[in-house]
Amino acid sequence: MSAPAPAPGLPLDPDRNLALELVRATEAAAMAAARQVGHGDKTGVDQAAVDAMRPVLGSVGMRGVVVIGEGEKDEAPMLYNGEHVGNGSDPEVDIAVDPVDGTTAAAKGLPDAVAVVGLAERGTMFDPGPCVYMDKLVVPAAAAAAVDPTAPVAELLDTVARALGSRREEMTVAVLDRPRHQALVEEIRAAGAAVRFLLDGDVAGAIAVGRGSGVDVLMGIGGTPEAVLAACALRCNGAAMFGRLHPRDDAERRAALEFGHDLDRILTTEDLVRGDDVFFAATGVTDGTLLRGVRFEPETVVTHSLSMRSRSGAVRVIETRHDRAQSNLIDAHEHTIHRGPKTPDRKAS
Ligand code: FBP
Repeated sequence: MSAPAPAPGLPLDPDRNLALELVRATEAAAMAAARQVGHGDKTGVDQAAVDAMRPVLGSVGMRGVVVIGEGEKDEAPMLYNGEHVGNGSDPEVDIAVDPVDGTTAAAKGLPDAVAVVGLAERGTMFDPGPCVYMDKLVVPAAAAAAVDPTAPVAELLDTVARALGSRREEMTVAVLDRPRHQALVEEIRAAGAAVRFLLDGDVAGAIAVGRGSGVDVLMGIGGTPEAVLAACALRCNGAAMFGRLHPRDDAERRAALEFGHDLDRILTTEDLVRGDDVFFAATGVTDGTLLRGVRFEPETVVTHSLSMRSRSGAVRVIETRHDRAQSNLIDAHEHTIHRGPKTPDRKAS
């Protein structure tokens, strides 16, 4: 006997959306990191986030291998490249993780620090090898097909503006605030567009492009791991990244060539993450262009997150209220402080 046809209007064969499970991992990381915000300890921010995120990732139904992580095993005790995470069941996946992108920002109490995780089928994520930096361009979905990433800045901004039904003088370009970007910033301004400096954290900056954030384009040199992470999100919302590896010196250039990289190649979003079913989750640590940061309220901790999936194009914006006395995503320290009843017992007074 064949299975009955689904009733009209019902979803066809719904399956697990791992991005929803990943949100719990980014929430845990963000809440732990938020305790360290403004204390000037970048390592403390990162360690708290890693410690909180790892057990939650371990509970996710997957056989994951960290391909973009905290570095090599010797220097990173957890979430190191090559580490196996997940509960050991299918599917087999690659994981890109940054428990906090923008650790310096978080340590200084500045905006745009986020906890992020991306996931795709095993073997589909770009391996940057020895290359730390990439020259990046991110444009909104509407401009993705039209843009020539090698065009001069003014021409490129014209193309994006046309695609958005706007003028280049009305474009805002996010750029990491670094001395290496001085010439780029001058070029953007000479073209009549505005620059929004990012102090730290170009993952949030890249994802904010075309999301009603006031940022139309992202340009400039930032981390290669962050490019792969942002590409996971961009695969889900149709925006496009173009990137060229940017070795810091001759030794890194030689190492990249030996690794097999073509340093002239312009990588697309699909080159950075080739999978068909890509998942992404992010939670704000500090307030930023993309997400609000963690809020500590008397009985709850409030987080703001994004959950995204490429195959369905579903982008969820999630506000979660974590009960300080009960949530198992909040660290033990919280439970020690807030072990009282959930709401004050009026009868007792
Ligand atoms: P970390 O928080 O992991 O240190 O990264 C922050 C960041 O701003 C990234 O978002 C960005 O891609 C990279 O550092 C830029 O590198 P640099 O600070 O060396 O210019």
